[in-house]
Amino acid sequence: MRTLIVYYSRTGNTKRAAERLSTFLKADIIQIGSLEKFNGIFGFIKAILQARIGKAPEIAEINKDINGYDLVLLCSPVWAGKISSPARTFIIKYGDNIRKIGYLLVRGDRKNEYKAIWNAMDDLLHIKHVAAISLYEHSDFTPMLEDFANTVERLSKDE
Ligand SMILES: Cc1cc2nc3c(=O)[nH]c(=O)nc-3n(C[C@H](O)[C@H](O)[C@H](O)COP(=O)(O)O)c2cc1C
Repeated sequence: MRTLIVYYSRTGNTKRAAERLSTFLKADIIQIGSLEKFNGIFGFIKAILQARIGKAPEIAEINKDINGYDLVLLCSPVWAGKISSPARTFIIKYGDNIRKIGYLLVRGDRKNEYKAIWNAMDDLLHIKHVAAISLYEHSDFTPMLEDFANTVERLSKDE
């Protein structure tokens, strides 16, 4: 199964998780380049507002043929209880080319896994995710990502 890992990261945590997952899965990986910046206090406030209202900021073109992949693993930080706005744009822009979807969320809240985000994204895509994980930013990602990678690899064997 050809898997593409797509991630957005503002401060590097999701990037770290996505890169580790790509090593475990030996999968292609690509970053969502937001054309809007979210740095500094104003960027932070803008990020919260966009996530809350579901605004989709401009992102750079993805220079991979999404159609060529069986599975897309979308990796995003949690913003205001929602998916980050650049990751939402990715779904809106490229959703029609996605056959199977999985999610990786990175969050600052130790307990809340924000599983509702998975279902909200499924609704946007009109497909049901085949794998999903939510990581607390200060936890050790490695064992959880190893488990997750095994789950993803089993998907292709079950086909
Ligand atoms: C604008 C904004 C809103 C956030 N809202 C939440 C939230 O609602 N719940 C949560 O658990 N973490 C929240 N966080 C924390 C991030 O999800 C967390 O720090 C994550 O590790 C950031 O990932 P990144 O380094 O890849 O950008 C928020 C962070 C930002 C910047």
